[in-house]
Amino acid sequence: MMEWTDRHCRFFHRLLTRRALLYTEMITTGAVLRGNRARLLAFDPAEHPVAVQLGGSDPRALAESARICADRGYDEINLNVGCPSDRVQEGRFGACLMAEPQLVGDCVAAMKAAVKVPVTVKCRIGIDQQDPEESLDTLTCIVVAAGVDALIVHARKAWLDGLSPRENRDIPPLDYDRVYRLKRAWPKLNISINGGIGSVEDAARHLEHVDGVMMGRAAYQEPWRLLQVDPLLHGASAPFESGKAAIEAFIPYVERELAQGSRLHAMTRHVLGLFHGVPGARAFRRHIATHAVKPGAGAEVLREAIGLVIEARTEPAHIAA
Ligand SMILES: Cc1cc2nc3c(=O)[nH]c(=O)nc-3n(C[C@H](O)[C@H](O)[C@H](O)COP(=O)(O)O)c2cc1C
Repeated sequence: MMEWTDRHCRFFHRLLTRRALLYTEMITTGAVLRGNRARLLAFDPAEHPVAVQLGGSDPRALAESARICADRGYDEINLNVGCPSDRVQEGRFGACLMAEPQLVGDCVAAMKAAVKVPVTVKCRIGIDQQDPEESLDTLTCIVVAAGVDALIVHARKAWLDGLSPRENRDIPPLDYDRVYRLKRAWPKLNISINGGIGSVEDAARHLEHVDGVMMGRAAYQEPWRLLQVDPLLHGASAPFESGKAAIEAFIPYVERELAQGSRLHAMTRHVLGLFHGVPGARAFRRHIATHAVKPGAGAEVLREAIGLVIEARTEPAHIAA
């Protein structure tokens, strides 16, 4: 998620779930081809499996960007057909591509020809005046013909005229049934659902209808939920028995990154929501918010903050009946 997630965030999230697939924020082909690749595309091997999301609409630029990302070790290349920002519309990519399904097909075909890893598309159910029955079917037919490996559908329209990107994440109504119908019509296609899914228990319910669930804001703002992913969705134990144990395991990474010039705040900003309903959670947040931003702040700030949390084991995860 642009402005929110980065490689530090993904490393932290990987401490909370071994199984979830992690995505980068959208990176434009212009940035991949002409930007500081070492910085933009860097990730830690511990992050696997990790997908990179590309923004663009020129098949050749996307193919070349996909190849560069696959060579760097990304496990999946995802094309953004859902972002509604003005900047993206000017570049003729993101959600406005819902109106140009053939071009999306050309992009997918070019990327597929360039890489061996899966190529996937994240889209909306439609935009503006489109009929979601038609727009989503048309796009699906074309990208399937182009060889797409999976589709992630944000289950609402984007209204490109008049709503801000933020409003476009909340105001157009969610239509989960539309995505379930798509899955029934394309039983062999791997389809994930996204949008407004606030808990891992809710994710489990969606999985009765679709193959995967993408969580955005809930995963970022309430990362403690990620500790439930492996037990609830994969029948595996969580990587750590508590948030406290997980964040203690984050400290060596933080120290390593500080030594290489990263700032403490760039890492600790992602951990603020880790503790939920635990004594000391507010003191933890406040300590980090106050001290991690100071110039030269070191890992001791994180250690002190962790010391303020009195945490028992997380409750054993269970799916509500
Ligand atoms: C700050 C922010 C940045 C986002 N950036 C991206 C992005 O780079 N690529 C993308 O596909 N979606 C992006 N999204 C949209 C989310 O991936 C997701 O589709 C949307 O928030 C709905 O899912 P949620 O209710 O689980 O958050 C972003 C969302 C937020 C809040």
